[in-house]
Amino acid sequence: MSDAVMERIRELKAKRNAVILAHNYQLGEVQDAADWVGDSLELARKAAASDADVIVFCGVHFMAETAAILAPDKKVLLPEPSAGCPMADMADAKDLAAFKAEHPGAAVVAYVNSSAAVKALTDVCCTSANAIEVVQHFPKDQEIIFVPDKHLGSYVARRLGREILLWNGFCPSHMWIRPEDIERRRKEFPDAVIMVHPECRPEVVELADEVLGTGGMCRMARESDATTFVIGTEVGLIHRLKKENPDKRFVAASEQAICMNMKKITLDSVVRALDKMDCQVTVEPEVREKALGAVERMVQFG
Ligand code: 13P
Ligand code: SF4
Repeated sequence: MSDAVMERIRELKAKRNAVILAHNYQLGEVQDAADWVGDSLELARKAAASDADVIVFCGVHFMAETAAILAPDKKVLLPEPSAGCPMADMADAKDLAAFKAEHPGAAVVAYVNSSAAVKALTDVCCTSANAIEVVQHFPKDQEIIFVPDKHLGSYVARRLGREILLWNGFCPSHMWIRPEDIERRRKEFPDAVIMVHPECRPEVVELADEVLGTGGMCRMARESDATTFVIGTEVGLIHRLKKENPDKRFVAASEQAICMNMKKITLDSVVRALDKMDCQVTVEPEVREKALGAVERMVQFG
């Protein structure tokens, strides 16, 4: 990263009273320029607690939208407005309303990877860091609809030994990680701890040593005595893991697990966003009002 670009970002941040939040899957140079790097839950909390006037959200659209729901008095900028999440796009609010009508007694738990309109139809949102806790909070006989990630939803159902009505969504980037990748890495690195994200398919989850969100993986890498880790999630996390643990080895379960939407944001787009302020993400007040309770409950769990 050039000193001139960093200086420009510093200048603009001061001028706008802005803070830069970056998800763990962002390009290394964007992570290095951020004030905070974290998982979905940590960044939502940072956005809510920040006293900045402007939040530059280096992530994807639903993350910026969640920040806008939690912090309506702040300007939330998404430096690349086309950075969406294909999984979030798999759940349409109209379809969810129809599904709810078929299951009138069911509570809705929505993965934060969903639109504000879906969150507006939801009882509690969750992230990979607190999904088990959120579902566990409901009485065992309470019917639950989990939307949109069928893999995270089925993982929670297996862990808690309860039935959950699953939506048919998934993360295309995590689908690149296959059981044979895990088996190959196990042979190559027999002493490694194999960590996978619960967005991975169940056959992959089955073969892993640990099933964790990205924040959990960072913690495990820091605290474990192991020195080699196989990382079964989007490859961007490895930048942070190496930076925080220079003496440990991190190997991608699959080099193909790349989220192209996460990679759309560059340092140039961050500079541009702060300079032009033309990529604000907003949520319609009526939608925000309906979604707020579910998002607020999410940040209180875990
Ligand atoms: P976490 O960082 O919360 O584990 O989320 C992963 C993800 O897919 C974000 O889109
Ligand atoms: Fe969406 Fe998957 Fe990309 Fe996360 S990694 S933003 S779930 S497509």
